[in-house]
Amino acid sequence: MSVAHYFETMDYGPAPESDAEARAWLAKHDKGFRHFIGGQWVNGKSHFDTLEPSTGKVLAKLSQGSNGDIDAAVKAARKAQSGWARLGGHGRARYLYALARLIQRHARLFAVIESLDNGKTIRETRDLDVPLAARHFYYHAGWAQLQEAEFADYQPVGVVGQVIPWNFPFLMLAWKLAPALALGNTVVLKPAEFTSLSALLFAELAEQAGLPPGVLNIVTGDGDTGAALVKNKDVDKIAFTGSTEVGRLIRKETAGTGKSLTLELGGKSPYIVFDDADIDGAIEGLVDAIWFNQGQVCCAGSRLLVQEGIAEDFIARLKARMAKLRVGNPLDKAVDMGAIVDNVQLERIASLVKQGVAEGAQCYQSPGATTDKGFFYPPTLLTNVHPASTVAREEIFGPVLVTMTFRTPDEAVMLANNTRYGLAASVWSETIGLALDIAPKLQAGVVWVNSTNLFDASAGFGGYRESGFGREGGREGAYEYLKLKAWAKRKARAVAKPLPAAKAKADAGLPMIDRTAKLFVGGKQARPDGNYSRPVLSPKGEILGEVGEGNRKDIRNAVAAARGAEAWSKATAHNRAQILYYIAENLSGRRTEFTNRIAAMTGARTAMAQAEVDAAIKRLFTYGAWADKFEGDIHTPPLRGLALALKEPIGVAGVVCPDEAPLLGFISLVAPLISMGNRVVAVPSERHPLAATDFYTVLETSDVPAGVVNIVTGDRLSLTKTLAEHDDVDALWVFGSDKASAEAERLSSSNLKRTLVDHGLATDWFDPAQAEGPVFLRQATQVKNVWIPYGE
Ligand code: NAI
Repeated sequence: MSVAHYFETMDYGPAPESDAEARAWLAKHDKGFRHFIGGQWVNGKSHFDTLEPSTGKVLAKLSQGSNGDIDAAVKAARKAQSGWARLGGHGRARYLYALARLIQRHARLFAVIESLDNGKTIRETRDLDVPLAARHFYYHAGWAQLQEAEFADYQPVGVVGQVIPWNFPFLMLAWKLAPALALGNTVVLKPAEFTSLSALLFAELAEQAGLPPGVLNIVTGDGDTGAALVKNKDVDKIAFTGSTEVGRLIRKETAGTGKSLTLELGGKSPYIVFDDADIDGAIEGLVDAIWFNQGQVCCAGSRLLVQEGIAEDFIARLKARMAKLRVGNPLDKAVDMGAIVDNVQLERIASLVKQGVAEGAQCYQSPGATTDKGFFYPPTLLTNVHPASTVAREEIFGPVLVTMTFRTPDEAVMLANNTRYGLAASVWSETIGLALDIAPKLQAGVVWVNSTNLFDASAGFGGYRESGFGREGGREGAYEYLKLKAWAKRKARAVAKPLPAAKAKADAGLPMIDRTAKLFVGGKQARPDGNYSRPVLSPKGEILGEVGEGNRKDIRNAVAAARGAEAWSKATAHNRAQILYYIAENLSGRRTEFTNRIAAMTGARTAMAQAEVDAAIKRLFTYGAWADKFEGDIHTPPLRGLALALKEPIGVAGVVCPDEAPLLGFISLVAPLISMGNRVVAVPSERHPLAATDFYTVLETSDVPAGVVNIVTGDRLSLTKTLAEHDDVDALWVFGSDKASAEAERLSSSNLKRTLVDHGLATDWFDPAQAEGPVFLRQATQVKNVWIPYGE
C-alpha cells in the first residue's frame, strides 16, 4: 500500500495494545482466583467463569463467595479495625499514598486487565479509569492526614461492606475503598461478578505493599454474595453502586438495623443544547456523554434535549459524526467504543430499542459497527421519541441516545426533570447567564456546563431523588465514612412510664372554654379530616387539652401545602435567617406561657421547663445564624475550570419528633431544615404535642410563608408510615422510636427518600454537640456540583 493510498483513504491501521503481561498474570491464576480474606487467599467452594466481552470466551475462573466466606471476611475486617483506626491519620495517609503510587506503577497492567475484563476501550481505561483511581487514593491520603484536625468530632463508622458494579470496576473500587480506608474503616468489598479481576489484582499488589491483614477483604461472587454481605449483622455500613432495583432491596434489608447506607444508583440524565451553543463542541460532548464506556454509565447523557430551531441541523451533524465512530477491539488504541459487558446486557439493550421502535421511535445506528463475535452493539440514536415512551423513561444502560426537542428554557427544565432519577445533567449554551440560571433548576447531583462526564476526587458525586443518596468524593463524601462521636455515645431511650387513665383536672371549676388544638396546614389551622381527637394528659392523667387525630388525608394535604411553598427554597438565605430570628423573638415574648405548658405536660420543674424554652430560642438563633453561613465551596479540580459545590435544600421533609423535650426536640429538627430552604410536615411528640401546637400561633405571627411548616398531630407510627410511603416527601427524619425508625427506612424505599432516624437512641437535646449544627445541616441539604470549564 502506498503513502498516497493512505492519504486518499485516511483509514486507521490497527494499533493494538499488548496484552502479554495481562495474559501472563491470568495464566498464573488459571486454576481459579481466590477470595482475599484476612490477608490470606482463600479458595471458594464453587467457581464460575468470567468472560471476555469482546470475544465471548472464558477469561478466568472466579470463586463464588458463600455466606461462610462473607462471615470470615467480616470477622477479619472487625479484628483489624481498631488497630487500623489507632494507626492515626498520618499512618493511614502513608498507606493510601503507597496505594496511589502502586496504581501508577502498574497503571498499564490495570488498564489492560480492565479492558479485557469489561470490554471498554484501552483509551478509556488508560486515560481515565486508572488515573482517576490513583487520584482518589492521593486525594484521600490527604483526608487521612488531616483527619484529626478536620474531623476531630468524628470517628470511623467501623466495618464497611461495599458492593460495586461492573461498568467502572476499578474506578468504583477506588471511589469506595479510598475514603473508607483513609478515615479508619476496614472493608469487605464485593466486586461485580462480570468484572472482578482488577479488584483481585489490586488486592495482590496491596498485599505486597504490606497493607495490614484484614483491612481490605475481597470476596467475589454474584448477587447472592452481595446479599450475604448486606445481611451480615456485624457490618456497620453498606455502600452500594448499581441498579435502582437492587438499591431498593438493600434499603429494605438494612432498615432498622442501624447500618448506615449510601446508594449510588441509576440515571436518565438530560443533555440540553440551547440554540446558542457551540454546536460542534456539543456534538463532540455528546459522543462522550453517551458512547463513552458503551453508554454503560450511570450518569450517561442519554436524553438529548435540543432547542427546536437547531434540532434538524444538529441531528444531521450528529448522524455524520456517528458514522465515523469506530467500534471494535477494545485493546485497539484507535477504537472509540468497545464491547458490552455481557450477553445479558446486550439482549436487554436490544430489547429496549426494539420496544422503543414499536412505540414509534425512529432508529439510526452507526453503520458497520457490529462484529459476529463478542457482545457488540452499535451507537444508536432514537428520534421521534415521546416523553412518556419507555425508552425516554427507562435507563437503557447502553449506547442508545433518545432525543426530544424544546422551545423555551422553562420547557427544557420541565423535560429535563421529567424523570424519577436525578444523577447528572449537561447544559450547552454560550450564554453563561442562561447556563447558570438553568443549573440550579435541574434536579441532579452534578451539572456540567458546556462539558460532560467530568469527575474528580475533590468534587462529591451522587444523586438526587431515585438516583440514590450520599456522595462519593469531596469533603461530603468523607463524612459518609464517619460518625459523630457524640451520637456514638447515645444510649437506648428509657421506656416511658405508661400514663394513668385520663381524668378531669381536680381543680377545674367551670369547664374551660374549648381550646382543642388544630392541625396547621398551609398556614391555616385545620380540623383533622377524620374528625377525631385525642386527649393530652399530664403525668397524673389529667386532661390538659385535646389535639386532632391526624390521618393519611391530613398528611396528604400537608405535603401538598409544603410542595406548594416552593418559593421558600428559592428565598434568599438572608430572608430565611431573618424569619428564624423573628420566630425566636416571638417565642421569647411568650416564654412564660410555653414554660407552663411544658411543665404541665411533662411534670418537669418550672426551672427545667424554662431552660427548655430558652434552649429552643437559642437553637432558633443558631439556625438563623447558619442560614447564610452553611454555604457551598468552589473546587479547583485538575482541569481549566471550576466546580461550584452548591448546597441545595432537599425539598419536602417529614419530621417525626420525640417525646423528650417536646418543644426543644421539635425546634431542633424543624429549624435546620427550614433554615436550609426545605419545607416541613412535622408530627409533634405523640405524648406531649401541645407545645408544638401552641407554636403554630408563633409561626403565624412571624412571617413564615404558608406551607413552610405544617403540623399534623396524632399516632407517631401510623403517621410515620404515611410520610414514608408518600412519593412527594423527599426526606424523612424520625426521632423517638426504634419501631418508627425501622418503618421509616423500610417504607422510604418506594422513592428512596433520604432518612435520618435515631433507631430508638435518646438524644440529649440540651447538648449542642448532639443536637445541633452541621451534622443536621448536612442532612438538610444535598450537594450539587456545577462544573464550568473555561478557556478558548
Ligand atoms: P446490579 O445492581 O444487579 O449489580 C450491581 C452489584 O450488586 C453487583 O456487584 C451485583 O453482584 C450486586 N448485587 C446484585 N443483587 C444484589 C443483592 N440482592 N444484594 C446485594 N448485592 C447485589 O446490576 P446488574 O444486574 O449487573 O445490571 C442491571 C442494570 O442495572 C443495568 O442494566 C443498569 O441499568 C443498572 N446498573 C446501574 C449501575 C450504575 O452505576 N448506576 C451499574 C450497574 C448496573
